[in-house]
Amino acid sequence: MKSIQMVDLLGQYEKISSEIDRAVIDVIRSSQYINGPEVKEFQKELETYLNVKHVIPCANGTDALQVAMMALGLEPGDEVITASFTYVATAEVIALLRLEPVLVDVDPKTFNLDPDAVRKAIGPKTKAIVPVHLFGQCADMDPIMAISREYGLYVIEDTAQAIGSQYSFADGSRSFAGAMGHFGCTSFFPSKNLGCFGDGGALYTNIDDLAEKARQIANHGQGKRYYHDRVGVNSRLDSMQAAILRIKLRYLDSYISARQKAASYYDEAFAEVKGLETPYRDGKSSHVFHQYTLKTSGIDRFSLQDFLAEKGIPAMVYYPVPLHLQKAYRNDRYQEGDFPVTEDLCERVISLPMHTELTEEQLGWISSHVKEFFEKNYSE
Ligand SMILES: Cc1ncc(COP(=O)(O)O)c(C=O)c1O
Repeated sequence: MKSIQMVDLLGQYEKISSEIDRAVIDVIRSSQYINGPEVKEFQKELETYLNVKHVIPCANGTDALQVAMMALGLEPGDEVITASFTYVATAEVIALLRLEPVLVDVDPKTFNLDPDAVRKAIGPKTKAIVPVHLFGQCADMDPIMAISREYGLYVIEDTAQAIGSQYSFADGSRSFAGAMGHFGCTSFFPSKNLGCFGDGGALYTNIDDLAEKARQIANHGQGKRYYHDRVGVNSRLDSMQAAILRIKLRYLDSYISARQKAASYYDEAFAEVKGLETPYRDGKSSHVFHQYTLKTSGIDRFSLQDFLAEKGIPAMVYYPVPLHLQKAYRNDRYQEGDFPVTEDLCERVISLPMHTELTEEQLGWISSHVKEFFEKNYSE
C-alpha cells in the first residue's frame, strides 16, 4: 500500500503532470511572469465557474481578507464579528488593520458561526461579519445575510476551505461559497481544495465598485500605472500559479467528488463507533470536505494520534486552541469559558487524511485502526 498522507499533492500532480508541465514551461517561455495573460484567463474561468461577476486574484487568502476589509473602507476601531473557532488568518487581518475582532461562538454541529451569537454581539461600532465556511461546509448564510440587511453590516465570507461548496437559501436559490456576501475570500494554498504550487488567493464580489477598489488596492492602489489613488498593497497571483490553477479548476468537480466519496466511506465505517461523531451534513450546504473532522469523546485524542502514527496514518488537530485563548488575541474582553462550544471542540476534534487520491485500501486501513483504538480505549 502506498504511504498515507494528510494530503497527497504529489499523487494528484502525477495524474495531470503532462498538462501542468506544459503550462509551466509555456509561462517560462512567455517571460510574462507577473500579470500575464494566464492570470486574466484564470480570473474569467473562475468567474464563470462560481457564477460571480468579479474575481480579483491576489497573493494569498490572508491578503484577500485584508484587501476586502480595506476596500470596504473599514477604519481603526470598527468592530468585525467572526468565529472563535477558525484558522488564525481570519482574525489576524482584522487586528492588523487595527479593527476590533469581536469573536463569537460556533454551532456545535456544523462548527460554523452561530447566527444567534452574531446578533447578540452587534453593537454601535459593528461594521462587518466574517463567516468562515469551515472544513468545507457553508456557514448558515440565510440568517447571516438577513442580519447584514437588518443592521447594514458588510459580509466578508472566508471561503478559504470551501471553494466549490454551494448553499441553498430558503427561497430556493443557490450560491457558491464566497458569492453571497459583499466579498468572498479564498486561498489557493497547495493543500486547499483548489491549490496551486505556492501561495495564491482571490476575492470575489458581485458589486462593481467594490471590485474596482479591491483590484486597485491589491496593485499598490493604482488604477492607471504610476497613478496611485489610494494606499494599497502588493498582492498579485503570479502567472505560473494562474496557469496551474487554470488546469486544476477543470478538475475541481472531480476533486470534490473524490473527497465526498472518501468522506462517505469514513461515515459508514464509523457509524456505530461509540465515542465518535462523524461530520454533520447541514442540508442547506454541500460539503466539499477540505477536512474530515471527527468529534471524539471517552478517549484521549492525542493517544489516538500516536496510535495511528505507529500504523503510518497521519492525523491532525485543527484547531487545538480557540482564538480568544491564543496569546496574541487574549484581551480583557474574553475569558476562558466564554465560548463553550469552541472550547469543547478544541479539546475533542481530530482530522483524518482527506484528499483526492485516497484508495479504498488506504481508507480501509485508516478506518479499521481508528475503530480498533476506540474499541480498546473508549470509556464513558
Ligand atoms: C479559514 C482560513 N482563512 C484564511 C486562510 C488564509 O489563507 P492563506 O494561507 O492563503 O493566506 C486559510 C488558509 O490557511 C484558512 O484556512
